[in-house]
Amino acid sequence: MKDYIKIDEWKIIEEGFDPHVHKVSESIFSLGNGRMGQRANFEEAYSGESLLGNYVAGVYYPDKTRVGWWKNGYPEYFAKVLNAANWVGIDVQLDGEQLDLAKCEVSEFRRELNMKDGYLKRNFTAKTASGKIVEVEAIRFCSMADDETGAIKYSIKPINFSGELTITPSIDGDVKNQDSNYDEKFWDEVSKEAKQDGGYVQMRTKKTGFEVATGMKFNLTLDGNAAEIIAEPIDKEKYVGTVVKLKAGEGQTVTLYKYAANLSSQNHPSDQLAELTYAVLDKISAKGFDTMMAEQAEAWAKKWELNDIIIDGDVSAQQAIRFNIFQLNQTYTGEDDRLNIGPKGFTGEKYGGSTYWDTEAYCVPFYLSTAEQRVTRNLLLYRYKQLGKAIENAALLGFKNGAALYPMVTMDGTECHNEWEITFEEIHRNGAIAFAIYNYVRYTGDEAYLADYGLEVLLAIARFWSQRVNWSEDKQQYVMLGVTGPNEYENNINNNWYTSTLAVWCMEYALEVIEKVKSIDNAKYEALVAKINFDIITEGERFKHIIANMYLPYDEKQQIFLQQDGYLDKEQILVKDLPATDRPINQKWSWDRILRSCYIKQADVLQGIYFFEDQYDIDTIKRNFDYYEPRTVHESSLSPCVHSILAAKLGDEKRAYEFYLRTSRLDLDDYNNDTEDGCHITSMAGTWMSVVEGFGGMRMREDKLSFQPFLPEKWASFSFHIGFRGITIKVTVSKDGVKVQNLSDQNIDLLVYGKEQTVAGGAEGIFAN
Ligand code: BGC
Repeated sequence: MKDYIKIDEWKIIEEGFDPHVHKVSESIFSLGNGRMGQRANFEEAYSGESLLGNYVAGVYYPDKTRVGWWKNGYPEYFAKVLNAANWVGIDVQLDGEQLDLAKCEVSEFRRELNMKDGYLKRNFTAKTASGKIVEVEAIRFCSMADDETGAIKYSIKPINFSGELTITPSIDGDVKNQDSNYDEKFWDEVSKEAKQDGGYVQMRTKKTGFEVATGMKFNLTLDGNAAEIIAEPIDKEKYVGTVVKLKAGEGQTVTLYKYAANLSSQNHPSDQLAELTYAVLDKISAKGFDTMMAEQAEAWAKKWELNDIIIDGDVSAQQAIRFNIFQLNQTYTGEDDRLNIGPKGFTGEKYGGSTYWDTEAYCVPFYLSTAEQRVTRNLLLYRYKQLGKAIENAALLGFKNGAALYPMVTMDGTECHNEWEITFEEIHRNGAIAFAIYNYVRYTGDEAYLADYGLEVLLAIARFWSQRVNWSEDKQQYVMLGVTGPNEYENNINNNWYTSTLAVWCMEYALEVIEKVKSIDNAKYEALVAKINFDIITEGERFKHIIANMYLPYDEKQQIFLQQDGYLDKEQILVKDLPATDRPINQKWSWDRILRSCYIKQADVLQGIYFFEDQYDIDTIKRNFDYYEPRTVHESSLSPCVHSILAAKLGDEKRAYEFYLRTSRLDLDDYNNDTEDGCHITSMAGTWMSVVEGFGGMRMREDKLSFQPFLPEKWASFSFHIGFRGITIKVTVSKDGVKVQNLSDQNIDLLVYGKEQTVAGGAEGIFAN
C-alpha cells in the first residue's frame, strides 16, 4: 500500500517527484472521454521507467495466442485495444540540452487531476546537468464536449538563463504494446504530413484494418504575444513533428498550445480521415484552448450533476468516491453500442481493453442509476449483437442447438481468453449477462426489450446450462462438473454453488420471460421460437426438470452453502493467521499452493447471495458471510465492494466501512500493488454500489426504489443522485434522517425504511427510521 496522494475533495494531487511511483501515477492521473484516453505520460522526453499509453476505443488488434501447451478450443487470438499514436509529445531542448526529468534535479513537482473540470495539470522546476533552471506548467485534457479531440497548454519559463529553446511537438505512431505476444508492432503507416504548424499520421492496424488519423495543430506565444519562431517540419517512419526554435529571455514564458484530433475509420471513411482531421483541428484551434477548457468544465458539470456523491465530514472518502466516478465517466459514456468497458479502461494494457463479466455484474447498476436508460441498453445490445458468436463459441466446445456461451474476454464476440480453466470453465459469466437483462428490465420497466432482444439471449444461455449439467446416477440429481467460479483460486472444481445457482436461476428466468413475452406480444414470441427452433415442450420441460433437481452443495453442520464439493477438505487456516509477508498470495505463492489452499480470491458464494439476496433470510446471509469473509484475500478488486454491501445489509457498519475504504481507495493507495498496470475501472462501479446499495441500502422492491440507509460513523452526511424512469432524485442521509429531493416534475413512489412514501415532483420528503 502507498499513500502519497494528497487528500482533496475535488483533486488528486501528487507533490514531489518520485520516479519509483511514476508508473502508478501515470495510471491514476489518466485521462479519457469514452472515445479515447491516455495514461499520464509526460509531454517532454522521459528516459526513466514509464508505460506509454494512448488508446482509441474499439480499435483493437488480434494478437496471436501464446500458450505453453495448446488445447483444442483455445482461441487463436487475444484482441487488444492498442497503444495508439502518442499525441502528447513535446520535446524540449534548452540551448541544445534535452529536458528529461530522469536526468534533472526536480523540485516543486506537482501533478493535479482536476476531477471537477476534467483536466490534468503538472508543474515543476527542473535544473539540467549544466545548471539551467526552467519552470514548466502543462495542462491537458481529452475533450468531453468533442470526443475526437484533446488539447495541451505547455508553458516553459527559463529562470536563470536566456537562450534558445527548441520545442518539437509531435505525433508519434511508432509505438507498441508492452504486452505484445511476439514483440510485434501492430500498426502500419498509411500516410502522414508534417507542416509548419502541425501535421498528421494515419495508421492502419494489421489484420483488423482499422485506420486512425491522429493530427496536431499548434501555435506558440512568448509572454502572451505571438512569438518569432523558426519552424522546420520533420518526419520519420510513422512520425511527424515540427522543430520550433525561438529565443526566450530569463523570466519570459513560452507557451505552446497543441490541439490534437484522433479520427477513426469506425466513424469516418478511411480515405477522408486526413482531410477530416485537419478540418477538426482548424475548428478547435480557432475556438482556442480557453474556450475548449470552458466547454470541458461545462460538460463535466453536467456529468457531476447526475453522478456526484457528496460525503460530508471525510475528505479522504470524498476524494475517493469522486475519483471512482470520474474514471468511470472517462471510460464509458454509452454513446456507441459497439463499445464496452475494459476492466482497466484507458489506463493501461492489462486485460486488453476487452469486455469481461465485470460490465454486467458491476457496471450495469452504476450506469442504470447515473446515466440515461439508453446507456445501459447499449451495453445490453452489445451482447445481443454478439449472440451469434456466443453460439459459435459454444458449438466449438461441443454444445448444440443454439446454446450460447459468451466469451470470458472479448472485443467483437469472439473468445480471446486462453487458459483452459477459465476459457472453458469460468462459465458463470453467462449468468451475469442474463442477470444484467433482469436488472435492466426490473429497473427501467422496459419490458419491450425482452420481446425484442432479451428473450433470445436468455433462451440461448438457458440452453447452454441445460446441456452443461449432467445427471448423476449417484446423487440422483443434476451436477455441474469441471467449473471455475469467480474465485479463480480454485479451478476445475465440481458443483460450484454460485455457478449452479446462477444456472438454475437463468433457466427459471427464461421460463418466466417466455410467459411475459407471450403476454406482451405473442406474435413476436412465435416468430422468435420459429427463428431459433425452440421447443417449449421438450426444452422447457428439461429446464424445469433441472430446476427441480439441481444439486447445490450445502453443509448441514455449519448450515452454509458450499463453495464447491471439496471445499471442506481443505486446510482451513483463516486469512488473519497468514503471515503478512505471504500476501498478496498471488505474488508470493506458487499457483499449486494457491489452488490447494482455502483462500478465496473474491466473492463467490457471497456474489450469489448479493445477486439473489431476496431469496435468503438474514441469518443465512450472516452465516455465509461470517464463514467466507475470513477466508477471502480480496486479491481481485471486484471483491471488497460486494463484502461492503453485504456487511451493510447485516448491519455490520464497521466492516461495511472498512471494505468501502478498501474498494474506494484501491488504486489511489495501490492496495494490491498493481496500480502501475492501470486502474481497476470496472471495480470502481462496485465502489459506487458500496455507497448507494451499501450505506444507502438502495434496492428495487415491488417495482419501486427502496432505501434502507445508515450513516457511517465518521461521516456527517452523504448524498447521491439517482435517475429512475425519467425522474432524478437526490438522497441525503444525515443524523436527522433521510431527505429525498425530487428534482423532476413527476411524483415518485418509494419505500424508505420499508414504508411507502410519495415525494411529489419538485418537493422533498424527510424520513426517519
Ligand atoms: C477477476 C475476474 C475479472 C477480471 C477483470 C480478475 O482478476 O478475477 O473476475 O473479470 O479480473 O477484472
